[in-house]
Amino acid sequence: MDKPKVVLGVSGGIAAYKACELLRRLTESGHDVRVVPTASALHFVGAATWSALSGNPVSTEVWDDVHEVPHVRIGQQADLVVVAPATADTLAKAAHGLADDLLTNTLLTARCPVVFAPAMHTEMWEHPATQENVATLRRRGAVVVEPAVGRLTGVDTGKGRLPDPAEIFEICRRVLARGVREPDLAGRHVVVSAGGTREPLDPVRFLGNRSSGKQGYALARTAAARGARVTLIAANTGLPDPAGVDVVQVGTAVQLREAVLKAAADADAVVMAAAVADFRPAAYAAGKIKKKDDQEPDPIVLLRNPDILAEISAERARPGQVVVGFAAETDDVLANGRAKLRRKGCDLLVVNEVGERKTFGSEENEAVVLGADGSETPVPHGPKEALAETVWDLVTRRLG
Ligand code: CTP
Repeated sequence: MDKPKVVLGVSGGIAAYKACELLRRLTESGHDVRVVPTASALHFVGAATWSALSGNPVSTEVWDDVHEVPHVRIGQQADLVVVAPATADTLAKAAHGLADDLLTNTLLTARCPVVFAPAMHTEMWEHPATQENVATLRRRGAVVVEPAVGRLTGVDTGKGRLPDPAEIFEICRRVLARGVREPDLAGRHVVVSAGGTREPLDPVRFLGNRSSGKQGYALARTAAARGARVTLIAANTGLPDPAGVDVVQVGTAVQLREAVLKAAADADAVVMAAAVADFRPAAYAAGKIKKKDDQEPDPIVLLRNPDILAEISAERARPGQVVVGFAAETDDVLANGRAKLRRKGCDLLVVNEVGERKTFGSEENEAVVLGADGSETPVPHGPKEALAETVWDLVTRRLG
């Protein structure tokens, strides 16, 4: 089989050097990559680097190799175009259909999915001109990844950093795997909770669970690749932030509830993949609890935590909001799942069997997605991303 053809557009920002890492990941995973830098990108990283890393010729202008009509051919033949970093100028040109160099010509001739990973100073990103250009590109079906927050070129910090190349690569992989031009979650806001809550007993101890957060992160990544604005509420995962996803870190069930309710206010869908502690210690010891010789340990008194899934299902923040829960069961998996779906009042419940060696921390999962409408969608054993895609398929169908 031919290798998938990827055009890596690089525009002129300091983050151009990070695109070398993205290029390496793309070529090493079996993609045929043609790098199309803008003339200003070459001030940051030279053509020799792009050519050596990609194994393909590199040009910025339409006037090289004119007999091969590169300004049309490169875009037409591509299976994916990814522009990383995308500067404010490149976004503006793409939004307005300008075509004054090879990259902008390629963007006009490409009929495949297009991913933009913008990087610029916060002021430029927030400027209404840039925001309108981004909205235009998204409306037309491009995936525009939200920039990350952090240190910018100078001493300042803010929104505008290029997300981690490994995470941009994940988005490219997901978009290529789906092979569709229209991202079906474009214009939607989705909220995903992930990880496991920890309920502190004292400054060094907590009651927790074994959730790794990987399923929730797979849900966030796949939703971003399908064009959604994603808020990921992460409880104690230690995983890297997925590209283009707003991540809110929380610790306890009470904090998770607060963050989910806030984000859900304008969300089209909420997926509760986090393992939430049902109970928390009634008392928190400000100092470390000491063992006392010749004395039995004090019992731990527990209080019930709020049931977030039941609460957001009962009081939908928006009409038509789709709410999805997860149920990890060790026995009577389907019967318990059906009862839980009714009890929680959500639209979909992803039921999987867990145990000592099952699911927790692994890259794979197997589940049945139960619908409040009586539907049952089995998802065979496979990567957590495949289960995530099925969940979004079922959610988009309900969003209509
Ligand atoms: N959940 C929640 N708030 C809680 C507990 C759970 O929102 N306090 C959500 C989880 O995020 C998950 C779903 O409810 O989506 C099911 O979690 P699970 O722990 O299986 O449900 P429980 O109600 O705790 O049921 P069980 O009696 O089996 O513990």
